[in-house]
Amino acid sequence: MNISGPLVDGFGRVHTNLRISVTDRCNIRCFYCMPAENVRFKPRRELLSFEEIERFTRVVALMGVNKIRLTGGEPLVRHDLALLVKKIAQVPGIRDIALTTNGILLAEQAQGLKDAGLKRLNISLDSLNRETFFKISRREGLEQVLAGIFAAQRIGFKKIRLNAVAIRGITEPEIVPLGGFAREHGLEMRFIEFMPLDADGNWDTDQVLSGARIRAALEEGIGPLVPLPVEDPSQPASDFAFADGVGRIGFINPVTQPFCQRCNRLRLTAEGQVRNCLFSTEEWDARAVLRSGGSDEELAQLVRASIGAKRAGHGINSDQFVKPERAMYQIGG
Ligand code: 5AD
Ligand code: SF4
Repeated sequence: MNISGPLVDGFGRVHTNLRISVTDRCNIRCFYCMPAENVRFKPRRELLSFEEIERFTRVVALMGVNKIRLTGGEPLVRHDLALLVKKIAQVPGIRDIALTTNGILLAEQAQGLKDAGLKRLNISLDSLNRETFFKISRREGLEQVLAGIFAAQRIGFKKIRLNAVAIRGITEPEIVPLGGFAREHGLEMRFIEFMPLDADGNWDTDQVLSGARIRAALEEGIGPLVPLPVEDPSQPASDFAFADGVGRIGFINPVTQPFCQRCNRLRLTAEGQVRNCLFSTEEWDARAVLRSGGSDEELAQLVRASIGAKRAGHGINSDQFVKPERAMYQIGG
């Protein structure tokens, strides 16, 4: 079998973007993602090694994947992550490596990551208020996150994005302060609608704070927002700038405005399972191929099978929606 050739699904969507979870562990416990206690993490031997991840990346790069995002759990708790960044940066065809982090360990690792070839950073910041930060993440850590953001800026990371999960009843008082923070520091603030991927299974449509409401609150509290040109047609976010040119805001509205029809993403979980969607109920076992002496062709075939089975959309708003068994920390955001 010939490996090369684009990864096209049954709906004509071309997949060029791979999200790799490097661990299911995390140093905080956000309620929208993880259980509060008794988390059962995967034993170390079940996680892919850096060499296995690198091999997987080489194979999908032959099929047109050119963008990588590292996720978790919290990716910075995986020992020596910069080494993985370096390995991936050397894979032919990969032109962009980004990281999604909660920022707690970022101040100490940012320089090493940049030197290894990391290009972009998304840092979670749900609140600038200590109590609210604790209520959401069930841990202390706001000061470290802020230190991480500023360290990343100092070191010279460009286009740093801050992610806030938008939750009704919690996020409303945070909207204007977060928008103001983005303006003050030349950052982009992104609001992401709360999705049914919490480990506790408490998600309910009533808890979703829509991007439209957040936009209205920002316009009322700060000033008018004007849409920015779309940089990448498959990007999930709608980006805006304040009319005075200071500060950028993005909205990711998976619940009220699903963007599945332009999805170009596939996922590799920390223990080597290929998923064609955050909301897949099926997985393809790349680790089994990697660890049984399988060929690159076999790996490629497995990835093609996964993409071939991709559904049109997540169907969160349909009566038939089935919540995946895995929670966010076990998939990778
Ligand atoms: N809904 C929406 N976004 C989520 N994230 C984690 N869990 C959820 C959820 N249930 C996002 C957070 C975090 C990133 C890893 O994924 O923004 O920054
Ligand atoms: Fe950890 Fe990220 Fe999940 Fe929060 S969202 S618990 S930071 S993996």
